[in-house]
Amino acid sequence: MTHDLSNKGFATRQIHAGSIDIPGIKPLATPIFQTSTFVFDSAAQGAARFAGEEDGFIYTRMGNPNHEQVGQKIASLENAEAGLVLSSGMGAINTCLLTILRSGDHLLADETLYGATFSFLAKGMSHYGIDVTFTDFSDIENVTDNIKPNTKAVYFETPANPTLKVLDLELVADTVHAVNQDIKVIVDNTFCTPYIQRPIELGVDVVIHSGTKYLNGHGDVISGMICGTKEFVGQCKDFGLKLVTGAVVSPFDAFLISRGMKTLDIRMEKHCSNAMKVAEFLEGHEKVAKVYYPGLPSFSGYEIAKKQMRLPGGIITFELDATKEQSESFINTLELCSLAVSLGDTETLIQHPASMTHASYSKEELKEAKISESMIRLSVGLETAEDIIEDLRVGLDRL
Ligand SMILES: Cc1ncc(COP(=O)(O)O)c(C=O)c1O
Repeated sequence: MTHDLSNKGFATRQIHAGSIDIPGIKPLATPIFQTSTFVFDSAAQGAARFAGEEDGFIYTRMGNPNHEQVGQKIASLENAEAGLVLSSGMGAINTCLLTILRSGDHLLADETLYGATFSFLAKGMSHYGIDVTFTDFSDIENVTDNIKPNTKAVYFETPANPTLKVLDLELVADTVHAVNQDIKVIVDNTFCTPYIQRPIELGVDVVIHSGTKYLNGHGDVISGMICGTKEFVGQCKDFGLKLVTGAVVSPFDAFLISRGMKTLDIRMEKHCSNAMKVAEFLEGHEKVAKVYYPGLPSFSGYEIAKKQMRLPGGIITFELDATKEQSESFINTLELCSLAVSLGDTETLIQHPASMTHASYSKEELKEAKISESMIRLSVGLETAEDIIEDLRVGLDRL
């Protein structure tokens, strides 16, 4: 099933990695293995497969050719030994953390995270007797000072959702490993994708994705991914996914993700060039109070972003010089930008983090994480940049 693509370019690997060979038939597009189970030739073969003595598929929760294809594709692009596709980004996060952590362990996390991730860590982890500390990783001493003897994992996003706070991947990974080599440093790379940033090359152990976003790219699938060493991804598959979360994605959705990933590089180029134009427009508009975008020299994360990100990404957060009611009416009246959560789709999406994606944070927690109640998050789509800008201009001029 695997062709050696190790010396091939990103674009070649996003198309060909994980391609499936079926003897005697050579379909260009991957067939969809929409089956829950696989038939054994004999009882002995079934037993050998369950015993791990013979390779081959058993049951789709434990593996399916469409899953293998996506796993191999994301591993190749992230430069990881192995990759695993799951039913959602949250499924990937749960599966990864519940594979590593057990009662009595400690997890150290950055305080600015996607709302559901924050909720799971802040409220869900205590169900399992796992202790979680949140701090601001931009001050690296906060990382060193909060590692405990029972710390098993360190978790963060960069750029973070929704403030776009940029954290130095190499610095965080090196700092944690200098204290304890065995602590798993995990980063959610959803906002960047491996086309923009490859954390494993900078010393991070595990990469998480919401495959729902740029990797699938077309707003029609919910999925997640885990990348890391062969040993760790194997544990996530055989323990976390198979026995704990059961967060299995359908073969059809895996097929769609694989198809979406074939055009990742050109989509990311356009998302980023459109976002740069939109960010510059917003920064120059008198009704915009502040723009958070890693491509703007005025942004606090600009220098670190330049060091570790190939492009500044497709997400912009901004604040208006307006009342709460005016801001609400601004997002309500846009015509091209759709008022919806999620990101990384072909369509431009706009939403209000404090009341939507980050509604799980209390007012105090929002303040702590520096998520202001006036922030508006824009996922810049693949439409004509001038049309997105015109839609925003009409909305701003109406204020
Ligand atoms: C950064 C980030 N990580 C994880 C997730 C969760 O992914 P999913 O919605 O696929 O479960 C999201 C969802 O918005 C996200 O923005």
